Amino acid sequence: MTVAIEMGHTTAGAPAALDLEELLATRLLVQGNSGSGKSHLLRRLLEQSAPWVQQTIIDPEGDFVSLGDRFGHLVIDAEEHTERGLQSAGERARIHRVSTVLNLEGLDAENQMRRAAAFLGGLFEVARDHWYPMLVVVDEAQLFAPAVAGEVSDEARKLSLGAMTNLMCRGRKRGLAGIIATQRLAKLAKNVAAEASNFLMGRTFLDIDMARAADLLGMERRQAEAFRDLERGQFMAMGPALSRRPLGLRIGPTDTSPRNGTPRLMPLPESALEDARAIILAAPPPETVRPQRRSSPDLLDQLMAAKSAALEIRPEPVEPPISAEDLAERRERVDRVLRAVLAQPDAGFRVIGVLYQEFVVRCRIEGLASVVPDLPEFRRMLTRARAGLGSDMAGDDAWQDVSVRASLLPEDMQGVFMMIARAAKEGWPCPSDAAIARAYGSHSLRRARRLLTYIEEQGLIVCQLDGVGRRTVTLVELAWATAPGDPGAAEVEQGSLAV
Ligand SMILES: Nc1ncnc2c1ncn2[C@@H]1O[C@H](COP(=O)(O)OP(=O)(O)OP(=O)(O)O)[C@@H](O)[C@H]1O
Ligand SMILES: [Mg+2]
Repeated sequence: MTVAIEMGHTTAGAPAALDLEELLATRLLVQGNSGSGKSHLLRRLLEQSAPWVQQTIIDPEGDFVSLGDRFGHLVIDAEEHTERGLQSAGERARIHRVSTVLNLEGLDAENQMRRAAAFLGGLFEVARDHWYPMLVVVDEAQLFAPAVAGEVSDEARKLSLGAMTNLMCRGRKRGLAGIIATQRLAKLAKNVAAEASNFLMGRTFLDIDMARAADLLGMERRQAEAFRDLERGQFMAMGPALSRRPLGLRIGPTDTSPRNGTPRLMPLPESALEDARAIILAAPPPETVRPQRRSSPDLLDQLMAAKSAALEIRPEPVEPPISAEDLAERRERVDRVLRAVLAQPDAGFRVIGVLYQEFVVRCRIEGLASVVPDLPEFRRMLTRARAGLGSDMAGDDAWQDVSVRASLLPEDMQGVFMMIARAAKEGWPCPSDAAIARAYGSHSLRRARRLLTYIEEQGLIVCQLDGVGRRTVTLVELAWATAPGDPGAAEVEQGSLAV
């Protein structure tokens, strides 16, 4: 039996069919610039094939959650589950043959990669008895299989790239048919793209993407130029599951719609906002914990319940109480790990998630797994460390006041304030713009100066320039003042914990 699903119409007006069984064996790559209609195409494919085959969608934007309402896909909000939880969910989804949407919305790149990798790993690792055919759709695949290293940790990239490579290279035997979509072919890892034998090419503007597409399809570059003229929803199809020769087709309508449609032009409000500057640029509200999203009364729970018997549930090991000395000694060692992490070149400019990951790994290696601070505590330690303070000084009475004041500022500015406070307390020269920028995790000197102005406007400090352009900062009320310092000076190391 062959199952042909209808994707739309050819340019000549004939129905354009996609052979599902062939697709399972040969995989599909969709490429097209933003707005070319890739997600719509995937939706059409998913809707048309839903009655025939189990599916899962790796959904970075939460575009596909509406499939749940219409076709009963289980929506898994990745934000609410651990990697281990998602790995088991992947396995169980296959065992019970439940179609799923893995909604990765709201996670940073690092966690999107890790959690997608865990879930894909679960689908992949399941025992041979459960190797039923399944479509695995990955939208924005370049996020999970990037061609070059980005801002995320090496570990996350390795996990994610590994999972995508498994899906595309070794998935077929296990019944997994990879269907991946990307805006930019040039940004997608080559080995992942190369495993697809079916292609749907949409509107493409950049030469480099066109060249990659031509290479993949074995076309003349000149022929690939035609991708520039495609309209939204129009694709060139090629491959054993589609057509042996390049075929132009227009994707048909869908039953469900994405949550975020194309923005429509709206008339602007008629009256101008009074005092727009004050309203838009008001100090940001203090950071609050994001409210937990409502967790759906979901099938996952049922799946969990059904399977928990088979799952080995290990009791939490009971730890012997730790003596005060031991605790102090461990804190000191944790501090040392933090210093080592921060001593690396560029540590000042890395995003906190990446620093934290590395910090945790190093703590584990040092046998400090049981006392690893959580992320909020890590942030506080980082703030102190960047200000040149060890955890010992945090207990210092003179600093209580400074910490209280610092807490009036947005979290990312607190380190800068503490650094300046320290210089003022010790009577050191005022930190240069470069030093302030670094403590703020930025390369921009302008931003450093803006930051100082902002802190001054909050009434925490007073900045003064002397006749030769050196800057002094005085802490309001405490009346500690830095020595005059050259704002343009190259960065100098200050204090034992300077980073
Ligand atoms: N074949 C089509 N028929 C009707 N509407 C379409 C079609 N293809 C796309 N659209 C509409 O065009 C808009 C953009 O399409 P879509 O979101 O699929 O683009 P995309 O390629 O996924 O873009 P991005 O890379 O930014 O996610 C959507 O509002 C979608 O509903
Ligand atoms: Mg899209």
